Amino acid sequence: MSARTSEEITSVLRTAVQAATWAPSVHNTQPWSFGVDGDEIALRADSDRKLRTGDPAGRELLISCGAALMNVRLALRALGHEPRVRVLPDPDRPALLATVRPGAAMTADENTRLLYAEVERRRTHRAGFTRLPVPECLLETFVADASGEGARLTPVRSEAAIRVLAAITCAAQDVQSQDRPLSLELIRWARPPGSPRKDGVPAESYPRAPRRTRPHFAQRDYAHGHPWGSDADQSLSVSTGVVAVLTTKGDSRQDWITAGQALQRVLLHASAHGLSAAFHTQALEMPHLREFLRQELCSQEYPQMIMRLGITFDDGRGVRRPVAEVLEER
Ligand SMILES: Cc1cc2nc3c(=O)[nH]c(=O)nc-3n(C[C@H](O)[C@H](O)[C@H](O)COP(=O)(O)O)c2cc1C
Repeated sequence: MSARTSEEITSVLRTAVQAATWAPSVHNTQPWSFGVDGDEIALRADSDRKLRTGDPAGRELLISCGAALMNVRLALRALGHEPRVRVLPDPDRPALLATVRPGAAMTADENTRLLYAEVERRRTHRAGFTRLPVPECLLETFVADASGEGARLTPVRSEAAIRVLAAITCAAQDVQSQDRPLSLELIRWARPPGSPRKDGVPAESYPRAPRRTRPHFAQRDYAHGHPWGSDADQSLSVSTGVVAVLTTKGDSRQDWITAGQALQRVLLHASAHGLSAAFHTQALEMPHLREFLRQELCSQEYPQMIMRLGITFDDGRGVRRPVAEVLEER
């Protein structure tokens, strides 16, 4: 591969930032900003977009940014550069989460191209799944994906454990829906139908009346009493799918970024095989419930995400802020 001009490098970095913006983020807060200086991308946390009530420590913010970092790494590889990444490079600048530079030229392998093709296509699902089974061999590759990033994905096999997770999710949702500061925070990020805003959860991204699965995992109430949501056909959405928990050994800022990168690798891989994920992180925002889950269901590891994986045909719409709004170029 011939050496690239600085214009070509700038274009590669812009494309990588564009890819980053398609990462999942809690309530679609998109809590990031990027700087491009020379051949370096800086990924920064945007604390104005932190959920001060639901996520005071910024754990979900950093998971979201970790997912964005995975997209940057993947884009650079897909565009022919081994990424050189430094996570939390400067203790005096805590908002600087990572720097990434394009390193040695490389040819993207098939797996990289496969995952990169899913960056914009992947969507969060917010209902039941079809009864089509998730192949066991795929689950094993997702487990390997997470472990390759330094986290652990555990598909929950025990019916009893799945029921406990479902019950805790419903209880957490119940408590949160009666908590005024938390409800107001959620309302701030919920978008009415037809909203032109490019952040927050659009009303078109969840069904108006999701069918209950058995066991039932409560959804967040983004419609908060309004008749919002899509009218997509729900007749096949009856299965809970495979319940899985993403955990890390520690619970530091570094671990949260690791969890985000692992999450995104799993999600893109799942998407490449026609699978979607639904998230249920309400209980993880309540310290005592999170600690209970850590002790009882996560072998003392720290739960970072609770999700269901399955096959669906009706994924909703995604919105993102334009790159110009999140990228500062020097
Ligand atoms: C840390 C984290 C927590 C999340 N928790 C939930 C959740 O509890 N319920 C939900 O429906 N979506 C959840 N999501 C998904 C986001 O709402 C979703 O990524 C965002 O709205 C963007 O939509 P997209 O994933 O379809 O692109 C979570 C995402 C992240 C990264």
